[in-house]
Amino acid sequence: MIVYLDGDFLRQEEAKISVADRGFIFGDGIYEVIRVVNGNFFREKEHLDRLKEGLEGLKIDFDPSEKAKIPEVSRELLKKNNQLTGEATVYLQITRGAAWPRTHTFPEPTVKPTLYISTDTFIPHTELHEKGVDVITLSDVRWKRCNLKTIQLLPNILAKQKAAEAGVNSAVMIRDGVITESPNANIFAVRDGVLYTFPASNYILNGITRQTVIELADKLQIPLKETPIREEELYDLDELFFTGTTTDIQPIIEINGRRLADGKPGQVVKKIRKAYNERMYG
Ligand SMILES: Cc1ncc(COP(=O)(O)O)c(C=O)c1O
Repeated sequence: MIVYLDGDFLRQEEAKISVADRGFIFGDGIYEVIRVVNGNFFREKEHLDRLKEGLEGLKIDFDPSEKAKIPEVSRELLKKNNQLTGEATVYLQITRGAAWPRTHTFPEPTVKPTLYISTDTFIPHTELHEKGVDVITLSDVRWKRCNLKTIQLLPNILAKQKAAEAGVNSAVMIRDGVITESPNANIFAVRDGVLYTFPASNYILNGITRQTVIELADKLQIPLKETPIREEELYDLDELFFTGTTTDIQPIIEINGRRLADGKPGQVVKKIRKAYNERMYG
């Protein structure tokens, strides 16, 4: 496996980060995950735009000419890893860079941010998409800047672990009595033929898949409201599903041990999944 680190293509075991890197010390950085199908980057511009927004949000001064090279470098990396055919993912991470002594404030003078890129082969979770998954509800204890895709993912990790220990696939997170998202995906609900999802704001990551589903709903003439679902409405919904770059479109069929509707993926999620797959696989 070859990875890219600060200008070099290296074997993964040879790639080394400084212990002074602020990604390691503080979780001071951002990341992106992009799906690749036969060498084609799905929604590349949207992912790179979100990366730019993240850099701005964290005030990481990343050289625009370096940023412009990311797509080309990622393609080169996929090629080196023989992943230009079939399915793959590209993982991009930028941290504020290595700086010593350890201070919370940004390094003075500014240091060069660290750019790391890796790729991996990818197998879609088709069985879960067809059968649906079970979830638990958990309190959303994250900070109030969830719109930034930072590498500091501890609340998400702890929530996913709790779900795993409960023997379920994932969690539906609740803040102030409403459903926000899952630790690694956005959530859509269906009630009386209308799609609902939490509005794009600082309380969720505005997923690229979420944005694609909103576009597809418009094309399919499925009415959509960016209005949160209340916790007490959860069990009366007709359908509920996750969306995400590696999650794809994943129906939720059981919540806290209670079956949702008839316990099978509903018609709306099936329609959206079909349209999404057509969009991705062309
Ligand atoms: C917290 C969170 N919400 C939503 C998503 C879905 O975003 P996207 O569709 O861009 O992958 C992710 C993906 O990693 C995530 O971590």
